[in-house]
Amino acid sequence: MARAAVVGAGMTKFGVHDTPLQELFGEAAFDAVDDAGVEMRDLDAIYFGNAMSGQAENDTHLGPKVASHIGAAGLPVQRFEDACATSANAFKNAVQAVEGGTHDAVLVGGVERCTPETGKDTPEMTRIFASASHRQYEQPAGLTFPGVFALLTKRHMHEYGTTEEQLASVAVKNHSHGRLNPRAHFGKETTVEEVLDGPVVADPFRLMDCCPFSDGASAVVVVSDDLADSYDAPVDVTGIGHATDVTPIGDKATPHVTQAARDAASEAYEQAGITADDVDFAEVHDCFTGAEVMASEAIGLVPDGEGGTYAAEGRTSLGGDRPINPSGGLKAKGHPIGATGTAQVVELTEQLRGTVGDRQVEGADTAAAHNLGGDAATTVVSVMEARS
Ligand code: COA
Repeated sequence: MARAAVVGAGMTKFGVHDTPLQELFGEAAFDAVDDAGVEMRDLDAIYFGNAMSGQAENDTHLGPKVASHIGAAGLPVQRFEDACATSANAFKNAVQAVEGGTHDAVLVGGVERCTPETGKDTPEMTRIFASASHRQYEQPAGLTFPGVFALLTKRHMHEYGTTEEQLASVAVKNHSHGRLNPRAHFGKETTVEEVLDGPVVADPFRLMDCCPFSDGASAVVVVSDDLADSYDAPVDVTGIGHATDVTPIGDKATPHVTQAARDAASEAYEQAGITADDVDFAEVHDCFTGAEVMASEAIGLVPDGEGGTYAAEGRTSLGGDRPINPSGGLKAKGHPIGATGTAQVVELTEQLRGTVGDRQVEGADTAAAHNLGGDAATTVVSVMEARS
């Protein structure tokens, strides 16, 4: 039984944009609304994600700005901030709102600009992102996000023998998928050798193990289950789990396990009445190659400790038995923080409709999206299924 349905999806190309935030969001929002075949006046609310624009662009209170720009002034706009899991949390709340009868149709999405177009360079943006880490125990130690995920990944390597070559194969795979995605930040392939030759960012991560700073926006139209059949191509939302884990990372009992993802996945699968074996592909939060390895295990697509092996053997590639990140993931598609969660939902929607072209996961009818925030402390896992 569906909790809600996505009936329209849109996103900008991820990359570098000199467009103001409301205009960037407007591009994705107009696409989503056109795709759904509705008018702005048919919507009841906007659930909107943005994480960093106050610090990055001195631009806050974006709700009425985006609503005015897209011709929807008057609608209530609810703003969400949950670090990198920002728009997945907006999506969860939109699903709950249509399921509970508060609204019939909600536009949900997110926008972020993270490149030097904001006026902030890499060190400054890295410091701004680090505001999502623990104020007392991580920030004073100089721990930024490459460092956070490097520590978690080092523990994974220690526990399971995961190698730098296996991590590099995640980057190779996601760049090869991203080359098939016209909206991806990076359109070029890479090799294990090129990844391993790159400059070290935070051991064991080199340049190509990291997602980039990106600008972009994404949006979907969510409607209640009983209205879904009046739209052309609804895709069902059958489960959403949302969990947190202890922070700072020094307090995590098993840092390589990302417990919030396990809890969120098990909640989402239970709601959907499925197990991980039923998931035909997943979009996971690969902010760093090691993060994809841990996520693929946490949501049950890959046995514990074998995330690296599966990637190196091509089993998580398109055409493999456990495809992961057919969009190119954060690594190649890009990571405009507040837009990432609903961009995953856009990919699931289009894949489950069978409309993505060369990167299509053949025969997929059930998929999961895993969106993580902060020092692995927040995770939202969504399950979507093709409407039969
Ligand atoms: N993957 C692949 N290529 C990348 C890249 C990445 N992550 N980041 C930058 N590049 C490319 C650029 O396109 C550029 O290529 P060009 O010379 O052909 O134009 C080149 O590498 C240098 O780019 P530059 O912007 O100078 O890189 P940088 O040194 O300022 O930043 C990182 C590189 C990896 C440090 C930065 O992208 C980073 O910190 N990423 C992680 C972001 C993050 O923490 N997000 C939150 C996750 S929770």
